[in-house]
Amino acid sequence: MSDLEEELRAIVGTAHLLVDPDLRDAYETDWTRRFTGSARCVVRPADTAEVAAVVRACATAGVPMVVQGGNTGLVGGGVPAGGEVLVSLTRLTALEPVDEIEGQVTVGAGVTLEKLQAHARPAGLDVGVDLAARSSATIGGMVATNAGGIRVLRYGSMRDQLTGLEAVLPDGTVITRLAGLAKDNTGYDLTQLLAGSEGTLAIITRVRLRLVPLLPARAVALVAVDGTDAALTLLAAARGRLSTLAAAEICYPEGMELVRSYGRLPAPFDAEYPAYVLLECAGHTDPTDELLDMLGECAAVEDATVASDVAGRARLWAYRETHTEAINTAGVPTKLDICVPLRELSGLVAVLSETVEAVAPGARTILFGHLGEGNLHVNVLDAGEHAEQVTDVVLRQVAQRRGSISSEHGVGRAKAEWLSLSRSAEEIDVLRRIKSALDPAGVLNPGVLLPTPADDNVRG
Ligand code: FAD
Ligand code: MLT
Ligand code: ZN
Repeated sequence: MSDLEEELRAIVGTAHLLVDPDLRDAYETDWTRRFTGSARCVVRPADTAEVAAVVRACATAGVPMVVQGGNTGLVGGGVPAGGEVLVSLTRLTALEPVDEIEGQVTVGAGVTLEKLQAHARPAGLDVGVDLAARSSATIGGMVATNAGGIRVLRYGSMRDQLTGLEAVLPDGTVITRLAGLAKDNTGYDLTQLLAGSEGTLAIITRVRLRLVPLLPARAVALVAVDGTDAALTLLAAARGRLSTLAAAEICYPEGMELVRSYGRLPAPFDAEYPAYVLLECAGHTDPTDELLDMLGECAAVEDATVASDVAGRARLWAYRETHTEAINTAGVPTKLDICVPLRELSGLVAVLSETVEAVAPGARTILFGHLGEGNLHVNVLDAGEHAEQVTDVVLRQVAQRRGSISSEHGVGRAKAEWLSLSRSAEEIDVLRRIKSALDPAGVLNPGVLLPTPADDNVRG
């Protein structure tokens, strides 16, 4: 064992330094199986002090680190490229008591979303962000990626829940800002700077979040519509009429077919339709009538099925939420996560399959996503050796429509080369200056988010 490994072992203990390839294996490949690399070792610190000691040891030795939470990220940012020390945060699982006066809570970065939901709910409070990877995704990872999910339309993304954090900088310095003050204009907002920084600026060790009211009365509608334009008409009606609107999601027949065969789910309607919208309403009193009234009056509705009970709602959500697993079961997807202005969505959807087919004949394009934000998940199966061209042509279609090449998953390693399609050269220069101010030696998550200088503007 080298000096660095000996030093890391002294910090975390033998059981939490994984050097054996069999033990490292589960940490080295991402959820999609598309990104994989060998770590020098995996180190699992137990608290902020151990994280700081680990970082100091690696920085002193000049060894790069890759930061990992629940490893549910979809852009390859949390797995090694090769040779890094992988710092896993999953042992930082402290749950402090819910502060019911402030409506906030402070938790360790390794707490999963599901554990935090279970912690907050007995106090009549809930986490404003929710997503299908809730059982594994960690709060630290969700802040680092500024995760979105299915409630953005009502409560915003992860950064909107964030009131403070604690983090270890690349030289081992700890910054702590956990008072959760509602108003605090005392200079640059370091908490918000770290939201969406994808482990490139600091390792987040504790997080303070504002919580939202737990809304027990819910109604879900799966609505068949005639296409993306009709879905947007329905969205506008839902936004205008439903004071309780909590989610607006979209999927299409190709995805619906895959999900049905994966989950052995019955057809939701007697006929197939060009698109499906899932709406959820949530309140303190039953929102079902409000939802039914709106559906009855909206001309875009071709057919609809509504559920208010827990089992019925879960049955309808399964058509949307199991897309990711169903796609992953069918193959290793090229996953893109984009956002365009709502008025551009229909035009983009219309050209995506043929755009992909032109560079990857025989590939299957599956679309679904968060309709409320114009956030489409473009998943391409069977792209084979054409994955890079698929990424290129799809992201260019998005850029032409003034969209974002990463709506909620981050840039990671998957899209770093294409960053200049969404950020100007001047902006990228500022991002680089921030990175080198905090991490001058480039030891944290190298190759993630920012293109390496040689790649700069290659894809622009
Ligand atoms: P990881 O995958 O471990 O890491 C992700 C990134 O964050 C990496 O760059 C890593 O280096 C960095 N990081 C992790 N922890 C820390 C830390 N403590 N400090 C600093 N950097 C850190 N995402 C959405 O936005 N919306 C969705 O609806 C959604 N649904 C999903 C559904 C499924 C089934 C799956 C598999 C994924 C989904 N995701 C979604 C993606 C993923 O769950 C999120 O990106 C999540 O925030 C990642 O959390 P994690 O703990 O797994 O992070
Ligand atoms: C989702 O909305 O289901 C997620 O972002 C996961 C995905 O894109 O596959
Ligand atoms: Zn999503």
